[in-house]
Amino acid sequence: MTNSHDLVVIGAGPGGYVAAIRAAQLGLNVGVIEKESRLGGTCLRIGCIPSKALLESSELFHETKHSFAGHGIVAKEVALDLKAMLARKDGVVDQLTKGIAGLLKKNKITRYEGLGRFTGPGAVEVVAADGKVTALTAKNVLIATGSTSATLKGIELDGDKVGTSTEALSWPAVPGHLVVIGAGAIGLELGSVWCRLGAKVTVLEYLDRILPANDAEIAKDAQKVLAKQGLTFKLGVKVTGARATKDGAVVEIEGQQPITCDRVLVSVGRKPHTEGLGLDKVGITLDPKGRIPVDAHFRTAAAGVFAIGDVIPGPMLAHKAEEEGVACVEHIVTGYGHVNYDAIPNVVYTHPEVAGVGKTEEELVAAGIPYRKGAFPFLANGRAKALGQTDGKVKILAHKETDRILGVHILGPRAGDLIAEAVAAMEFGASAEDLARTCHAHPTLAEVVKEAALAVDGRALHI
Ligand code: NAI
Repeated sequence: MTNSHDLVVIGAGPGGYVAAIRAAQLGLNVGVIEKESRLGGTCLRIGCIPSKALLESSELFHETKHSFAGHGIVAKEVALDLKAMLARKDGVVDQLTKGIAGLLKKNKITRYEGLGRFTGPGAVEVVAADGKVTALTAKNVLIATGSTSATLKGIELDGDKVGTSTEALSWPAVPGHLVVIGAGAIGLELGSVWCRLGAKVTVLEYLDRILPANDAEIAKDAQKVLAKQGLTFKLGVKVTGARATKDGAVVEIEGQQPITCDRVLVSVGRKPHTEGLGLDKVGITLDPKGRIPVDAHFRTAAAGVFAIGDVIPGPMLAHKAEEEGVACVEHIVTGYGHVNYDAIPNVVYTHPEVAGVGKTEEELVAAGIPYRKGAFPFLANGRAKALGQTDGKVKILAHKETDRILGVHILGPRAGDLIAEAVAAMEFGASAEDLARTCHAHPTLAEVVKEAALAVDGRALHI
């Protein structure tokens, strides 16, 4: 039996399932192939969503122990039920994956469970877990197979003590000493979770700074705040090996004594997932970083084959993949479809959060672009004071001559929500003056954004 579709999407992560929904809205007959029984990809099953559930729970635990007294709340005998915390996280994931199955159904999208691979131009087959093969034909195929955790030479992942984010989302007990390799988003988020739950956490980073993709000043501020929370940072450290031992694990470092610990989280980046797709059957070759080359409309070297998300160049972010998926199918159907790569926010969900959009200060300096800078601290904001969360600041970078906003960087409470205003402003080509003249409700954290915009012109009001 052959099943024919206008579009077959391989991979039901945020990039793939969103593209499928948009394509169905535009009238295409769509099929989605996913190898996992639960839809939603890495983000939903073993990434963004479960980590945010644990970040929320662990922060509440930490606040109950450390912040409640300051609010005049006496909480005695606060105890951790890790099993219940992990079960709650699994429940959140479960609800959301079922929600996606419902969305596919509502949009009359055919779902195929199994591994998708090309057999030739316009021909794809689905290999189910029981070996059953279903042949599909498609006018268009969209590759949205995402990424998997990268590792380093010398690291022996054992799926338990020396693990990636997948294992670190489900460890059954709080490690006495956790060593995190890599100070990117994953290392800091999951390092924070286990630190709040009581682990001693040591973060090893090869570079001389944390969060290499973020604005350096904000990253430095974030490091100070996280260090106060108990994370120990060792920067400029090259990890050469890690393995499980009888009692725990050991991490080897170039030129230094090895560190013995209870568990290791390897968070040194992710790599595109293209194995087993049969790309050779349609003449697609990967770039040196293992990514699928595409043009501005996500077209690969093969006619009728497109790719989006983590398998193509750019930041490996769920929302970037979603935007690309929508733009890709809109272009297929309407001839129009665009992603503005200058306005893609990134958020690190530590406490406080780190968020940014546009150019960092280092990028502006390197490119020789003249800019003015305005910054405003949460310490001078009424709502932040009332919340008891005054660490951090908003920093706005605007072009020196035109005042157009070029970058916004935030360390602070709810930075991930606050950055949306900056992204919208940049999408509209706003100047710092536009933001400064926009009425912001009082008392809100968003007033810090307004004050930073005023500060670009040297006229912040509350400092
Ligand atoms: P990352 O690429 O953000 O950071 C990895 C870090 O490991 C870098 O700072 C790198 O210098 C360091 N490193 C590499 N080799 C090392 C060595 N031998 N010794 C010590 N340090 C070493 O990778 P991460 O955190 O694993 O995240 C993977 C991807 O997933 C990223 O693209 C990230 O943006 C995305 N992600 C995004 C999240 C968010 O938006 N909140 C959350 C989680 C992941």
